[in-house]
Amino acid sequence: MHYFKNIELPNFLDEAKTDCLRWAEEIVEHGNPHSSLTLRNRTHSKINNAVSELDFKTVTAIAGTRKSRILKQRVYKMVRKYGEVDRIVIDQYDVPTKMSDHVKDEMLRLFNIPRDECTPIVQIQNGGEMLHPHHGHGRQASLFCLLKGEGESTRWYKETESFEIVDEFHIPDVSKLEIAVENVLQENQWLLFNHREWHSVHRKSNVGVRINFGIDFKTMNINEVIERT
Ligand SMILES: [Fe+2]
Repeated sequence: MHYFKNIELPNFLDEAKTDCLRWAEEIVEHGNPHSSLTLRNRTHSKINNAVSELDFKTVTAIAGTRKSRILKQRVYKMVRKYGEVDRIVIDQYDVPTKMSDHVKDEMLRLFNIPRDECTPIVQIQNGGEMLHPHHGHGRQASLFCLLKGEGESTRWYKETESFEIVDEFHIPDVSKLEIAVENVLQENQWLLFNHREWHSVHRKSNVGVRINFGIDFKTMNINEVIERT
């Protein structure tokens, strides 16, 4: 099982990375909108907001009574385990079309990965001390590069017992997870990131900015990507 895998790709997409870091820092300083990076709508934002505000009426309206009850138990287990922490919010951005086309060309040329598998993405995590254990909604794997960080650690988990996955919100039962691997991602190190497995991000304080560039794969999982790299 690969939770992540470092890949040596010297100078890969350096220009795009430099531009994206500069643009992301402009957004951190001046806010949105930005002339080059386009903020995506947050998926699952309704349910996530409801969960972080412990608003289970809204959760019940979206997911029904049975699932809401499961979620409530899981959220309280998280609160018991981690305390009431300041959550990290991730904003996701699309890059300009010209840059996106170039990235897709490179992925095809170097790894023979089809253009329509690849979506470049910039993510900004400004403030907050923790991203609770979760797994991806839309993607299973990405080629990931940290552009700027504060020494946050990323933990991946394995399940000690299986539990129901509730489609509306990918929130695990933390009493049935244990840390499988922990890694402080390094700036400018390319790696394959397994979004399919439960993972969390931990920052030493609730102040700081984490910016990353990535290429999300539409259908491929980490093993399928490893075969091509
Ligand atoms: Fe994630």
